[in-house]
Amino acid sequence: RTVYVNGQYLPEHAAQISIFDRGFLFADGIYEVSAVIDGRLVDNDLHLARLERSLGEIMIPMPLPVAEIIKVQAELIRRNDLREGVVYLQVTRGAADRDFGFAEGMQPTFVAFTQAKNLRAAASVQDGVAVDLMEDQRWARRDIKTVMLLAQVLAKKRAKGRGFHEAWLVEDGFVTEGASSTAYIVTADGKIIVRPNSHAVLPGCTRQAIMKIAEELGVSMEERRFTVEEAYQAKEAFLTSASSLVTPVIRLADRTIADGKPGPITRRLQAVYLELAL
Ligand code: PDD
Repeated sequence: RTVYVNGQYLPEHAAQISIFDRGFLFADGIYEVSAVIDGRLVDNDLHLARLERSLGEIMIPMPLPVAEIIKVQAELIRRNDLREGVVYLQVTRGAADRDFGFAEGMQPTFVAFTQAKNLRAAASVQDGVAVDLMEDQRWARRDIKTVMLLAQVLAKKRAKGRGFHEAWLVEDGFVTEGASSTAYIVTADGKIIVRPNSHAVLPGCTRQAIMKIAEELGVSMEERRFTVEEAYQAKEAFLTSASSLVTPVIRLADRTIADGKPGPITRRLQAVYLELAL
C-alpha cells in the first residue's frame, strides 16, 4: 500500500513519524474518514469542512488548503487502485519535546492512507446489526473528531465480546450516539428521530446527507434526544457513518426492534443514499 506522510507518497513500511509526535504522546490531533465507492469519494466536502472545524477548535492549522487535500486523497485512491473502502486523514499538532503546553506555529503532521473494504455488500449493511447499550464515558467535546478514542475503543471491544456489532452510548437515560456512528430510531407514526448536534455528539456528515434525503422523500424527521425506552419501542432503528453507510439496527441489547428485520424507511434511505453516492 502507498501512504501519504507530510508531502510524500511512500510504501507503508517506509513511512515514519517521530516518537515525539503529539498525536502519539497526547492524542493531540484530529482525523476524518471518507468513504470511497466505485473509486469516488462520498460526502467528501462535508468531511473536509468538519476537518477544518475540528482543527480550528483545538488550534491546529490546516496542513494544506482543502483543494490540495482533495488532490492527496485522489492520488492515494489512484496509486492504490481503490474501488471501494475509505480514505483516512489524520492531522496532529506535530512533534516537540514532551510538554503539555505547546508553542504557536508548530508544523502539523499530516498522514493519509486508504483501506479497501466492501462497504455496500457488508453483511451488517445488508442484514442489519445487533447493538449493545452502555454508559457514555467520553469527554465533554464529542463534536470534535479527535484521535483520542479510548472510550470508543473499550466500548467497541466490550460490545464485540458480548456479541454485538456496535455500542449505543447512553447519558442520563438518553442515547447520545454510537461509539463510531450516529444513532436513529423511527417512531410508530413513521417519524425519524435523531439527536440534535451539540457538544454531546459528533455532527455526522452522513447524518447531514440523510437529513436532506429524508426531506426530499417527504419522510418527517425530528431532531431531539431519545431515551433507551423509546429505542426499545421503536418501529425501526438504524445507524449511519462514512464506513457503515446506512446500517439497519435489528436488536438493541436483549430486545428485538419491532419484528427484528430491517425496516422499510431504513431500506429506502439506504437505497437513495447509495444512488446519490454513485
Ligand atoms: N466514525 N459519531 C461518532 C462518534 C463517530 O466516530 C462517527 C464516524 C460518526 C458518524 O460520522 P460520519 O457520518 O461523518 O462518518 C458519529 C468514523 C467512521 C470512524 O471513526 O471510523
